[in-house]
Amino acid sequence: MIPRGKFITLEGGEGAGKSTNMQFVYEHLCAAGKDVVLTREPGGTALGERVRALLLDNSAEHMASDTELLLMFAARAEHLAKVINPALAAGRWVLCDRFTDATYAYQGGGRGIGADRIAILEAWTQQGVYPDTTLLLDVPLEIGATRVAKRGAPDRFEGEQRVFFARVRNAYLQRAAQYPQRFIVINAGQSLSQVQIQLAAAVRQIL
Ligand code: TMP
Repeated sequence: MIPRGKFITLEGGEGAGKSTNMQFVYEHLCAAGKDVVLTREPGGTALGERVRALLLDNSAEHMASDTELLLMFAARAEHLAKVINPALAAGRWVLCDRFTDATYAYQGGGRGIGADRIAILEAWTQQGVYPDTTLLLDVPLEIGATRVAKRGAPDRFEGEQRVFFARVRNAYLQRAAQYPQRFIVINAGQSLSQVQIQLAAAVRQIL
């Protein structure tokens, strides 16, 4: 029997530095000899990437919050079936840029959908599969907004108001407080080198 791989997720609000730090964590895990699958949500499969394009398109007509929620879980079902579950079963590690904590933060906190309704879809879709560790890059709103402003045209989420992001951040921090065994909160408002010192320590903890 091959021991099951570990499932690590990286979360954070807009402008938390997820892309850069994702690569850093990936390299550290690979350097420690882990066979790591790097993936993301929404996305990670051909179908999931098409769903992602629908979700991020800000030129489309207004999308109902429940539609958004169900599309997130539709993409997730495909991702679990085609990528995450097979990799973990083969003993590979999965490092995923966002997962269901993002749904609790954005659709729950941001859009105001009840956590009880999200939990039903979570149990139904995931069938007992949960991340082993979640790294949360927490960044103060002002710093995140300044970083996002330097990018190109905002997508459908990036174009939201500040109050939306305040709710997202609070929801993430609440999740971290609720699951302290699983979450490692990184202060991502600091300089990149300081953030990466924290991440390197987190990776040592995971290994
Ligand atoms: P990204 O910019 O980190 O790639 O993520 C795309 C957007 O999707 C981001 O604004 C957060 C949002 N999102 C949700 O609203 N709910 C979810 O469950 C996931 C995975 C992402």
